[in-house]
Amino acid sequence: MKYTSQKICLIGDFGVGKTSLIRRFVDGEFSDQYLATVGVKISRKVITTDIKSPSSNSLQLIIWDVEGSQKFKGIAPNYLQGARGAVIVADMTRSETIKNLRQHIQQFLSINPQACVIIALNKADLIELEYTEKAIQECQSLLSTQITATYLTSAKTGNNVDEIFTELAHKLILL
Ligand code: GTP
Ligand code: MG
Repeated sequence: MKYTSQKICLIGDFGVGKTSLIRRFVDGEFSDQYLATVGVKISRKVITTDIKSPSSNSLQLIIWDVEGSQKFKGIAPNYLQGARGAVIVADMTRSETIKNLRQHIQQFLSINPQACVIIALNKADLIELEYTEKAIQECQSLLSTQITATYLTSAKTGNNVDEIFTELAHKLILL
């Protein structure tokens, strides 16, 4: 099968669930154990869409799982360079990780100004519905032509996990 490969990054504060989202998407597994990522880990998965594209409707995502950071530390620019897309992740149970989304997005887009970004509010299985609506509203102000959507995700239940990666792949195929 003919397809191109594109780099995407998962970015966000430490412990928000970046590694768990990738593991759920690539291997269909979840673990409650927390093993912090050191440096970067790269996984791959081919996505086939029903998009009628002149080149190909398949794409290999090269997924960079970048170690978590706090806003004052930032992420090593080398990890972000050359990415066409990103999933910026926050933890619904820790509001400071939602506040830090803006800074993660700014850093990523300063290195990759043409890239597409999706926001994942993760660990949605742990919180009440009324709180989720407030968090989604907070993220509305971050949306733009490049930052296209906010999803409530759960790496534990799998809710919306395939959707975030598929939506990003659609955008990259159409770019
Ligand atoms: P760093 O590598 O340190 O940046 O962390 P990370 O963002 O990769 O987080 P990781 O995926 O390692 O998850 C941290 C902890 O949160 C682990 O104990 C996971 O089991 C847990 N976790 C991740 N996603 C979810 C989720 O959707 N729901 C619940 N309940 N727990 C989650
Ligand atoms: Mg990790």
